[in-house]
Amino acid sequence: MAQKFDTLKITAGYNPLEHNLAISPPIYQTTAYDFKDTQHAEDLFNYRVPGFLYSRVGNPTVSFFSERVKALDHAANALAVGSGMAAITYTLMNLTVGGGTVLASPYLYGGTIDSFDRLFPDLGVKIKLSQSILEPENLEAELTDDVKAIYVESISNPNAYLVDLDRISEIAHRHGIPVVVDNTVPTPYLYRPFEHGADIVVYSATKGLTGHGNIIAGIIEDSGDYSYITKERYPQFYEPIVMLGGNSIIEQFPENPFIMRAILVYLNFLGAALSPQDAYLGLIGLETLSERVAKQSKNALKLADYLDHSPAVDWVRYPGLSTSPHKALADKVLTGNGYGGLLSFGLRGGKKERDAFLNSLSLFRYHVNLGDSRSLIVNSPDTTHSELNPDEKALADIDANLIRISAGLEDADDLIADLEQGFRAAGLL
Ligand SMILES: Cc1ncc(COP(=O)(O)O)c(C=O)c1O
Repeated sequence: MAQKFDTLKITAGYNPLEHNLAISPPIYQTTAYDFKDTQHAEDLFNYRVPGFLYSRVGNPTVSFFSERVKALDHAANALAVGSGMAAITYTLMNLTVGGGTVLASPYLYGGTIDSFDRLFPDLGVKIKLSQSILEPENLEAELTDDVKAIYVESISNPNAYLVDLDRISEIAHRHGIPVVVDNTVPTPYLYRPFEHGADIVVYSATKGLTGHGNIIAGIIEDSGDYSYITKERYPQFYEPIVMLGGNSIIEQFPENPFIMRAILVYLNFLGAALSPQDAYLGLIGLETLSERVAKQSKNALKLADYLDHSPAVDWVRYPGLSTSPHKALADKVLTGNGYGGLLSFGLRGGKKERDAFLNSLSLFRYHVNLGDSRSLIVNSPDTTHSELNPDEKALADIDANLIRISAGLEDADDLIADLEQGFRAAGLL
């Protein structure tokens, strides 16, 4: 019988029998790996044998980490990199060689949208925030020949909106276009994008996946279905590579072309390698993924309910609220373990009230991370999403008075008391 999620998060990807029976995964703190002989060196460089040669492109501890996340998502292949942004950028670069268009959800992390405005145009890639992601019946008309990918967040930062991935993927696949899903906010405990048609999944593993606010890390995974990699749309997978003895990526790695190209080109040359120390901390974090996210979800629901009834608050966005327009979809597609730790609300008043409220909080930590064991709060429009232009903000429902909360593991009563005294300090109660 296949092992279940809570077993895999403790055991997958690492076998103590292969590592001197060490129960905690060893940190392979090494830059390089000795070759046994010249033939071994040649085989490793040609990728003819499995193994490690240099820690920029592969390290055992980093592999334990990516293999464990891979098991949780039932992915075919996975790669851990040095940040969530590296995971996103490498993925989109891998799909858009030679230019093209990516259709993206308007509901995304601000840094992602910023990269669409400031990095990808230089590479000849247009990334279009498309309303038709939200109304997939209009998507068909936008899927022209130059579209190389669709990009969405499964639950968005900061508004916790969901998109109908099943519908989006079904239409995209009819046109041979892959769907990339950033699953950072729900984590695999709450949502499994491959079960809803995703081709590639990315994570900021900095967040709830590892959950302690102590590393920067990213993950790229794929579904194992590479039928979209045609020579016409993605010729980069068909070019002969000298290092592979003249083989193309698709010839040499038919079972793993997407991740192997990401390693050979982007990890190799842009170099955002995850350190073994950070991979180790990530592995320890994964061991409590279910317990953390379940408690965060419970706390978030209590906070959303409190805020929903507070006279200091204009509106609350949380998919677990019975009034949320996203509740029905959430109930259909999430794993049933909760609605996650992320929510947003609109604070009454203006900048004066916002400043007074945020400056008076003592239990909530005021900073830009999310998914931490501590409860975090931030004014997203002025921080994480400050680079968005007014049109992008309007499209993404980033109102000026938006406050984002990432619920942690504290007692919910203490969190509510902190919010309450903050509202009073701001003169809103
Ligand atoms: C949804 C989402 N994706 C990606 C990122 C980027 O991740 P990292 O900070 O690990 O580069 C973030 C960071 O806030 C995020 O919230």
